[in-house]
Amino acid sequence: MTSRLVCLCNLVDEKEILSALKKGANSTSDIQRLTRAGTSCGKCLPVIDEIVNVYKKEKPKDQQTELDFG
Ligand code: FES
Repeated sequence: MTSRLVCLCNLVDEKEILSALKKGANSTSDIQRLTRAGTSCGKCLPVIDEIVNVYKKEKPKDQQTELDFG
């Protein structure tokens, strides 16, 4: 199964972003830190925002893990 390529600059696909969300990423800036998606031209940022928002809406808060960047 193929995954939609979200960030062309850094070759980050939707699967990688969802994986970061499952590990506890909670915002677009978390996704940027974990995957580098959205850290170059920034054109993919609205798509990343949408993926993060849909994930947060669908996943109950108590099932979301918190990520500690130290
Ligand atoms: S397409 Fe994602 S930073 Fe350029």
